Amino acid sequence: MSKPTVVGLFAGCGGLDLGFKKAGFEIIWANDFDKDSVKTYEENIGKHIVLGDITKIKSSEIPSGFDVLLGGFPCQGFSVANIKRSVKDERNFLYLEMLRIIKDKRPKFFVAENVKGILSLDKGKVMNLILSDFEDIGYKVDYRLLTASDYGVPQHRQRVFIIGNRIGKENPFPKVTHGLKNDLFNPKLEPYVSTKSAIGHLANVRTRDKPFRHKNITIYNHVARMNVSDKFWGRKHDVNQFDICDYLKKWRKDSGWSTKKIDDHFGYAHTAGHWFRKDNNSGSIPNPDDWRELKKLLKFDNKFDKQVTELEEKTIVYEQSLRISNWEEPSDTLTATGPEIHPNKKRRLSVRECAILQTFPDDFIFHGAIGSMYKQIGNAVAVDLAYQIARGLKSHI
Ligand SMILES: C[S@@+](CC[C@H](N)C(=O)[O-])C[C@H]1O[C@@H](n2cnc3c(N)ncnc32)[C@H](O)[C@@H]1O
Repeated sequence: MSKPTVVGLFAGCGGLDLGFKKAGFEIIWANDFDKDSVKTYEENIGKHIVLGDITKIKSSEIPSGFDVLLGGFPCQGFSVANIKRSVKDERNFLYLEMLRIIKDKRPKFFVAENVKGILSLDKGKVMNLILSDFEDIGYKVDYRLLTASDYGVPQHRQRVFIIGNRIGKENPFPKVTHGLKNDLFNPKLEPYVSTKSAIGHLANVRTRDKPFRHKNITIYNHVARMNVSDKFWGRKHDVNQFDICDYLKKWRKDSGWSTKKIDDHFGYAHTAGHWFRKDNNSGSIPNPDDWRELKKLLKFDNKFDKQVTELEEKTIVYEQSLRISNWEEPSDTLTATGPEIHPNKKRRLSVRECAILQTFPDDFIFHGAIGSMYKQIGNAVAVDLAYQIARGLKSHI
């Protein structure tokens, strides 16, 4: 029997595509405009990837008759980490390219991936717009926020997956397989895969450019950035975030400044909102310069000046120095920028360690400069999560 077929848009180095390949799909065409990602993809997954800007590629240049369209459309514009997130950011509209190709090619299924921030963008309006655009071209569409560690990936990475189909099926989202050890409510789940069990074998292994043998495996890309600082500027006094957020909230109301007006004054897209929001634990405290400026605007007293503005140089303690704070649990999310400091504190995580935390196989070799390799991995869908999603689709096709 022939394999079900896939086209991968915004394929990057191929995390999502590789999961589908592993599950028995044949990828017949893929695209990305990043040279290094395309090289990595070509060398590891296949020569079917085309280098180029998707906005410049006509639908007629893409093969027809495939079963599934994949697309992790770019997330920078959507990311909560990016203060410029707004419907005006043109990268947000790259999903329209995906829509165009779905409309023209009519695959049975499509899978789109994005960051969590997409759900709250413009109070959910952006997500609703995307979903209704897909529905309008005849697809039944559902989405879920999935956590990679729930599927055996050693990383608590959360991403939104939108699945659509035009063949009258339920959209299949994978069942959770992993969880906390001895979870009384879910006794059948396997325990989370810890960071230590995934990358512990490389903890004290010297980094080097060339591949080498270690514990009977060939290790590629065990290279790492070395910029590790032991010091940081931290607050001198204890601060209670709730008290300060409450305090700021009161002064903002009394002085008649709206959050929006404060944002506009500072030139921030949404930061001021966090200064007054203690209710959902996501409040943040202004940095000393912003605090002084805010004080001028709202005319508050000196009550918390010391706590907020007095800083001192501190030594980074083990847990703070890394987001891989808990070696015994799945790691926090790897980003596409600088990876976390390794628990051995002498270096950042190596490219290979990041790849392992994203469940890329040991013989998947990354190409490009170190920053580019970190980025390709940080942008990817964890391979094993992609595999679980792919298996669900396969049983429907
Ligand atoms: C989030 S990453 C996708 C990662 C991929 N799904 C994976 O699992 O490895 C988004 C990708 O879109 C690519 N991209 C952004 N704009 C593009 C465009 N206009 N044309 C082609 N590719 C684009 C970027 O180079 C990046 O590799």
